[in-house]
Amino acid sequence: MTDTPSGKKELKKIAVLTSGGDSPGMNAAIRAVVRSAIYRNLEVAGVMNGFSGLLNNNFVEMQSHSVSKIISRGGTILKSSRCPEFHHKDAREQAVKNMHDNGIDGLVVLGGDGSFRGANDLWKEFGFPVVGAPCTIDNDIYGTDFTIGFDTAVNTAVTAIDNIRDTADSHNILFFVEVMGRHSGFIALHTAIATGAEATLIPETPTSIEKLCNYLVSERRKNKTSGIIIVAEGDDEGGAEDIAKKVRTQLPDYETRVSTLGHVQRGGSPTCNDRVLASLLGHECVCSLIEGRSGVMIGREHKQIVYVSLEEASSKHDVIDKSWISISQIISI
Ligand code: F6P
Repeated sequence: MTDTPSGKKELKKIAVLTSGGDSPGMNAAIRAVVRSAIYRNLEVAGVMNGFSGLLNNNFVEMQSHSVSKIISRGGTILKSSRCPEFHHKDAREQAVKNMHDNGIDGLVVLGGDGSFRGANDLWKEFGFPVVGAPCTIDNDIYGTDFTIGFDTAVNTAVTAIDNIRDTADSHNILFFVEVMGRHSGFIALHTAIATGAEATLIPETPTSIEKLCNYLVSERRKNKTSGIIIVAEGDDEGGAEDIAKKVRTQLPDYETRVSTLGHVQRGGSPTCNDRVLASLLGHECVCSLIEGRSGVMIGREHKQIVYVSLEEASSKHDVIDKSWISISQIISI
């Protein structure tokens, strides 16, 4: 970084890393960062394995061709990790030193709230220029309508549940389908509405097994012989396996099955929505660093690019609209 005549620091080289759980669209975001940086005459380094790569000097020089044909690929070509060492200030200091030694004067972090905490520390403690873009399938990041990866994950879940529905109908089975989302019910609620699920159990509202059983009995009276119950993995009564067990003790005559979708929701080729979102946010990350904006997550709300402090993006969470639960139930009867 050099001083311009106006006193503003001029960037010469930036780095980009992916951190936390991978999400479909991370590659599209890397591609946008690399190409936008080259377009603005910046050098770009890819950091391998998330924050660990900053500690181990694991940098690779990125050229335009390094990101050819990755826009359609799930996962992340830079690989990702969770890095507990980064919770220590000494490690962060070493990371800043390594970046300086490699001529890097700005960093783009593609990840979720945990990654933004590490990014925010680099900015707050050392004034190192850093921006982030929200990448997680959970969609629980504060300050953006959608996170990169969510749209692909819910579409994958919807396809899987549509398939399960065929078997549920053919054999009169009550299916408990567990979806991801950690402590949040975004994936569960969206897939429930999109698949016409009979009930949705999410961490944001208390689950009553008794109420669920009463509801299932009332459904049977209406001659519904099969059903899909979506269970968010973070539900307070447990995962789909636990809930199915509790329901079976009260309704032993019901034929039930459990299906846990798991990591199939994390992988796969990103949807058009995720590719576009990743490309717009990745591009804006570079523009922001060039303009001297730092310590922010770049999000998108109401069709506009927004800048949210990393402090807020890492400490607050986006919340579901609880009215969707009853809407989902009303239209599935
Ligand atoms: O945050 C993304 C996510 O897939 C969550 O939905 C899930 O709880 C978690 O990561 C699983 O993490 P891991 O792959 O480390 O088990």
